[in-house]
Amino acid sequence: MAEPPPTTGTHDRQQAIYRAGLAGHRPRLPITHDALAARAQRRLSARAHAYIAGGAGDETTVAANRRAFDEWRLVPRMLRDIAVRDTAISLFGHRYPQPFLLAPIGALELAHRSADVGVAEAAARTGVPMIFSNQAGRSMEACTAAMRRIADHAPRWFQLYWPKSDALAASLVARAEACGCDALVVTLDTPLLGWRPRDLALGHLPFLRGQGLAQYTHDPVFRDLLAHTPADTTRPPITPRLLANVLASAYHYPGSTWQALRRGHAAAAIRQFIATYSRPDLTWTELERLREMTRLPILLKGVLSAADARAAAAAGIDGLVVSNHGGRQVDGALASLDALPAIRAAAPDLRLVLDSGVRTGADIVKALALGADAVAIGRPYAYALALGGADGVAEWIANTAADFALSMALAGATSVADIHAGAIELVPRTRS
Ligand SMILES: Cc1cc2nc3c(=O)[nH]c(=O)nc-3n(C[C@H](O)[C@H](O)[C@H](O)COP(=O)(O)O)c2cc1C
Repeated sequence: MAEPPPTTGTHDRQQAIYRAGLAGHRPRLPITHDALAARAQRRLSARAHAYIAGGAGDETTVAANRRAFDEWRLVPRMLRDIAVRDTAISLFGHRYPQPFLLAPIGALELAHRSADVGVAEAAARTGVPMIFSNQAGRSMEACTAAMRRIADHAPRWFQLYWPKSDALAASLVARAEACGCDALVVTLDTPLLGWRPRDLALGHLPFLRGQGLAQYTHDPVFRDLLAHTPADTTRPPITPRLLANVLASAYHYPGSTWQALRRGHAAAAIRQFIATYSRPDLTWTELERLREMTRLPILLKGVLSAADARAAAAAGIDGLVVSNHGGRQVDGALASLDALPAIRAAAPDLRLVLDSGVRTGADIVKALALGADAVAIGRPYAYALALGGADGVAEWIANTAADFALSMALAGATSVADIHAGAIELVPRTRS
């Protein structure tokens, strides 16, 4: 029998699980990440699982991300009065209840029909910030409305892939401001898609089926661009699968599926997305223009080099997401955690969010102790979404929050400020 889903990420989640156990209830979701991932794999289609779980090349960086956490060992400290604990953090003038955020994940409709809206509901119920993906399956307006129905000021950020059209970039940023986003994350590590063998083997990219395009298809500038969409010069052979994909793309287009098919809007949107997606020629100079477009704090996502961190600080950027995109872009890239100490030293005044490979409360403690202001987590919540929709994500958030609160306290710190002040003792594994 499954216990009722938790509505908030609470410190006493552990007690609640044991109490529910007395009445014969078990948690809905597996507790460990590996068990969660395994159960989600059974639920997901082969294509959805490949897209979510996969990494670039031989996935050596996916593995390195996990190994990097294991290279550090906590040295728990005793008798520190851990009776009162506070997991909250403050970022860019906003207080968040936990030091973790939901990383931007595209094409979440692959995981669950509620897609981004399900995640937004769970985020609003728990107060954990959600970073809306530029490749979302549901528009930022739909997610914002879902959040506001639960908690008006539920925190949200927006992640931008800089498109070829500056007018489209400005429109996306203006919509993020109108949605009440607290910060803007510009992802730099995906000007081109990495070489991802799992997706390649299946010949599957969700965007070509009209999935993960909601921010575009709901954008007035993008919709104007549809009139100038290049004609389709490639004529793939017509097969039942191709027809199914054409239908699927029309279904994902806003409004009537029939009209999207008849007017060719869905197919045009996909071609326009391919034409406009991302700027491989982007350099530091464009960032100055972004600064003029918005007063939101700007973070750059995908920075792994101390030199790039220094350049970001010099360019007046507010923060970085130290990330290798969960190992999905450059196979052989260093683990994000391994990049963190040098980046913290190079850019002491920037806010640093660390992602890639964070799975447990202890991982979060380690990242904070090594200089992160917060972490972001990706795949685990996508798996929780696949297994339980919004309730699944809320339950995963509650588990992660409780794991973090306990790991922090048992290692000898009572707050994130405490961790940043050096309360946590950490040693390389070779010495432990
Ligand atoms: C299925 C999937 C889709 C993603 N889509 C985006 C995206 O649209 N924008 C982005 O900046 N990062 C995207 N990422 C990267 C995540 O934001 C994050 O960097 C990564 O998942 C962190 O690693 P983790 O999954 O090991 O926690 C995606 C990751 C996954 C797994």
